[in-house]
Formats: sequence, structure tokens, C-alpha cells
Amino acid sequence: MKKKPRFFTTPIYYVNAKPHLGHAYTTIAADVATRFMQMDSRDTYFLTGTDEHGDKIVQAAEKQDTSPKEYVDKISKLFQDLWPVLNISNDQFIRTTNPDHIRVVEQVLSKIHDSGDIYFSSYEGLYCFGCERFYQERELVDGKCPDHGTEPEVIRESNYFFRMSKYQDWLIDHIQTHPDFIRPEQYKKEILSFLKEPLEDLCISRPKTRLTWGITLPFDEDYVTYVWFDALVNYISALGYPDSDLFKKFWPTARHFVAKDIIKPHGIYWPIMLKAAGIDIYDGLNVHGFWNVRGSKMSKSIGNVTDPLEVTREFGVDPFRYFLMREMVFGKDANFTEDVIVTRINSDLANDLGNLFSRVLTMTNRYCKQGFSKENLTPRDPDLSLESPARTAIEAFRQAMANCEFHNGTAAVWTFIGLMNKYIDTREPWALAKDETRRPMLETVLYNLMEGLRVVSCLIYPVMPETSSKMQETLGLEPPDPGFYPLDQIMDWGQIKTGLGFSKPSILFPRIEIKPDKKEKKTAKPFKPALKDEITIEDFSKIDLRTGTVIQAEPVEKSEKLLKLLVDLGAETRQIIAGIAKNYTPETIVGKQVLVVANLKEAKLMGQVSQGMVLAAGSKKELILTGPDKKAPDGCPVK
Ligand code: ME8
Ligand code: MG
Repeated sequence: MKKKPRFFTTPIYYVNAKPHLGHAYTTIAADVATRFMQMDSRDTYFLTGTDEHGDKIVQAAEKQDTSPKEYVDKISKLFQDLWPVLNISNDQFIRTTNPDHIRVVEQVLSKIHDSGDIYFSSYEGLYCFGCERFYQERELVDGKCPDHGTEPEVIRESNYFFRMSKYQDWLIDHIQTHPDFIRPEQYKKEILSFLKEPLEDLCISRPKTRLTWGITLPFDEDYVTYVWFDALVNYISALGYPDSDLFKKFWPTARHFVAKDIIKPHGIYWPIMLKAAGIDIYDGLNVHGFWNVRGSKMSKSIGNVTDPLEVTREFGVDPFRYFLMREMVFGKDANFTEDVIVTRINSDLANDLGNLFSRVLTMTNRYCKQGFSKENLTPRDPDLSLESPARTAIEAFRQAMANCEFHNGTAAVWTFIGLMNKYIDTREPWALAKDETRRPMLETVLYNLMEGLRVVSCLIYPVMPETSSKMQETLGLEPPDPGFYPLDQIMDWGQIKTGLGFSKPSILFPRIEIKPDKKEKKTAKPFKPALKDEITIEDFSKIDLRTGTVIQAEPVEKSEKLLKLLVDLGAETRQIIAGIAKNYTPETIVGKQVLVVANLKEAKLMGQVSQGMVLAAGSKKELILTGPDKKAPDGCPVK
């Protein structure tokens, strides 16, 4: 049976300022959800766009001395240009100034007006110009708008009203009988508690004497439509309501993504508008919290915003997407600082995943140059197989992602990554490689790790599509059209090919260096240390210098300077503690050939045994590893 299609939307963002990290978050979350649903073998449609009418826009245009039209074109373009950079796979970008959209708003208004749910009346109320809406006394905080902190003004005018009160009981019932209608739970409670008080009718017009930048009411040309009544309709106008095939296919399968600032329009006005217009009610509303900066909401009016383009330029698209999905618990607020993003990238991406990827491929290329041989493999041997933890990861991922728990979905994958890193440490492929009789075990261990990486590459697809395909290329995989593996196919154990070599792994995530002072420019100055005392050739020949390849590296706990290296010297493997952590990351050092002082007396550094020393040029500040000019056999004496 074909699965139900899914329609994903973001809010259409106001064009009164350029996009910031908050907008990027919602749009990336909806993109991740869309990509995940495609993996779940469903047809999807993904919509985003801009909200271009209303007071706010007129004021912003005036500030810049341009016409509203010129202004909205300019800012809308910033959003349209940003999304491809962030790898957003939207199917459409809607603008509320599109004639097609305007036509549908008129249709919906007429329909509700004809049915008698819109009436004309005079009204006096407290109006917040920032929010463009009337407030009820009980919604204010100390008499002020909770969003803007300003006192609303008393306004008296004649307007059109939408009879929302009539639908209050219906809405309460709808929310209670559709458990997934508003998620997470806390926001459902919030809406239900708001609905305990009598619902007031909604003022849906603005007199043209006060505002002309809007959609004229089809039944009174002296008024324009209230911006929210106009904006919400985008979700159906974009699909070509009422008759198009797109609309018939995807409505009402909508999953709307919004932050908690706009749950009322989405959780109350919108379902009632649909009900009153005789249109099916959307499937669900997914509400997330705010990105805060030093305790307050990141917002254009406060001016504490982070530009997603700048973050992407600095850290890369996939790391940015990963960070946003992993760091925020969907539904709760999260804090943004550069430190948190750098920590996430260095620990989760460069260390955990990046290091695993380069370790496994370096060893596979080294020990199985021609690829795996079928006769040697028993990948489902229960003692060695990673199949069962992979299945656990896939299941946990599937459940979390289906519930918009992106943090849990990514965490499930990282649990599996951690397990694979431990598997390497306990299985010690480099030790197995020393003993030809253990060849089948060596190959089986590496094959399991490659299979594990395959599973990881498939699961990270929705969050990090570029990294996913980069990994799959190196793993010799060819994902089916349109470029990813369906969830149902990921578990088939044994998709890594045998009999074929693999290419060299590229660095997936360069470690972010924390620069204490960005202004300080590094120029290589010549070194002029005083020469040491003369020695004889016999003195020198006492030093047993050898070539060796770093096959594993990790930071030494509680030390900023030290890395623990595992170096292959041909006949043996040595653990060497090297003071190079400030200049090299585990990720950048694995696979490098270095020079080792092999007969240095064993020593302990920070409680760790060091069996030799790797040579590096330079000073304490800037160490440069030295190695042979081209690859030499490991363990080769240096004279
Ligand atoms: O409300 N943290 O547009 P808007 C997380 N045009 N998300 C944030 C955020 C933050 N600090 N700041 C903004 C509007 N967002 C209307 C919507 S829909 C029919 C009309 C995101 O430009 C989040 O998705 O003020 C929030 O709901 C939205 O931007 C508000 O965008
Ligand atoms: Mg807003």
C-alpha cells in the first residue's frame, strides 16, 4: 500500500529584516523532516516563502526611503538566495504579493463572508502596532505587549470580524480527539488552556485610511485584509486551492513548522478559518522553542541576530545543519554562542565521526588493499557483527525523527558511532594484522566497521546530505535515485562490495581551531636557535630512527598538548604520546607517515606510557611533523 504523502511548511517570514539563525532553524528542521519522509518512501511537498503585507513592511520600507514593492522584492530575494546555500530542498517559494495567492485569499474571504461568519461592527480595543493586532487585557504583561514591551494604544474603529467564538467548542474537541494535532505536548496544553476562556472574535480588516499595503476585501473596497488572515492562506494558495491536482494530493496532509511565537494564529485562527470555509483541517502543527542569545530571544527587534550565511561560511553547511538539529531539543529553548557550535563540531563531527571514518578507511586501505575477499568474511558472525547495534540505531532514529525529535534522532546515530570507536579499540585490527592466521577475523572486523559506516552515511542524510554522499562515494556505494537510501534498505547487511579497493578518505570535518586573537597574523619567521654541542657520527648512530605510520590518534584526557598515537613500525605497533595537540588533530594525523625515535627509553606522560618519540620541526608554539618525502615501508631505518 502506498504511504500517505506529506506536505511540510515553514512560516512565511516577514520581509521587514534580513533572515537570521532563527529562520534558518525552522527551515532546516522542515527540510530535515521532508528528507526523512522521503527516506520513509513518501511523496512530499515542501513550501516556504515570505509574508509581504501589513504595517511592519510599510514602516520598514519608509525607513529605507523606498516603496513597499521595491522593498519587499529586495528582502524576499535575500530569503530566496539563502535557502539553496543551506541546502534547503523546498519545492516552492511563495510570496503573498503573488496574484495567485491574492486571488485565493479573496475566495476564502468571500466564502466565509457568504456563510455569515464575517460581520461588520465597531470596536474599541488595545492595539499593538508591533504585533499588528488587538490585545485583550489579560494577555498583557504589566499593561504592556508581551512581545514588544510597549503599551498598546486604544483604537476605536469600525471593522470586519470573524466569528471565531462560534467554533470554540469544535476546536477544543478537535484538539482532544487528534493527539498529534499540536506537538510537543506542552504547546497543546498551552492552546487548550487559552481556550478555557471565551474566545473573542477576530478583527480581520484594516481601514484603508490607516493602511493600504494589503489585500482589498472582496466585499468592501475601503478595507484591506488583516495580515494574518492573508498570510495563513498561503498554505493552501501555494497548492493551487481549490481545484489543482497538487492541492488534491497534498491537502490536508500538512505538517506546519513554527516557533512558539506564532502558535495562536496557527493553532486557533487557522483551523477555525479552514473549518468556516469548509476546507479540511491540516494534520499537525510542530512547535519549537527560541534560539536565545544571553538569555533573550534572538530577534530582529532586539538586534542580537546571527547571520546564517556568516556561520555557514565559517563552519560549513553540514556542520551548521547538524549543530542546529543536535543542540536544540525540539520544543525547548536553546542558547546560541560560538563556543557551543565549535564544541559540537570538534567533538561530535571532527573527533567522533570524522576520526572513525578516517581510521576505518586508513586501516582498510592498508590491510585490504585489493578490497575484502569473500572467502575471508563472516560478517554476521555473532561475536563480531555490528548488525544488532546498527538495527537499534536505525530503529531509534526512525522513531525519533518521525516525532520531530531531531536531537534524539542524531543522538541515536552518535551512540552507534561511539560504539564503533570502542569496537576498534577492543578488536585492535592492527594487532590482528600481524598474524596471518587471523586474517579472516581482521577482514571481518574491518568489513563490519565499513558496514557500520554505511549505515551512518545513510542515517545522516536528512541532516547532512553532502557528507552523506561524500562518505558513500568513498565507501563505493551507489545510492538509488534520487540520491539516498530508503529506510527499509539500510538494514540489509552486506552492501559493501568485496574484491574492490577503496579510495583514500578525505577529511570530512576539519577541526575548528579556536583562535585566541583573530587579528594576530602568522608569518613564518626564520629560526635562529644557537647550535648545540658537536657530536660524532658514532654518537648519532646510537639513535634508532625509523619510519612509522600513525594508525590511530586521540586526545589525552585533561591535556591540551598531548595526543596519544598508535604508530605502526612494520614489525610492531607503538603507543607514543606526542605534544602536538595544539597543531594537529586526531583527524588530520591519522594516516601520516612520521619519523620515530624507536630506541628512546619508555616514559610516562600524564599517566600514559610512551614508547618512543615522533619528530617535529619548529618551536613549542608551532610544531610541524616531519616525515619521508614519499611513502617508505614502515619500520625503515633512517640514516
Ligand atoms: O511571524 N528562535 O514571521 P517572522 C527560533 N510572517 N525561531 C525563530 C526565532 C528564534 N529566536 N526568531 C524567528 C511571522 N524564528 C509571520 C509568519 S506564517 C503564515 C506567517 C522563526 O519573520 C520561527 O519559525 O516573525 C518563528 O515562528 C518565525 O521565524 C517568525 O518569523
Ligand atoms: Mg516575528
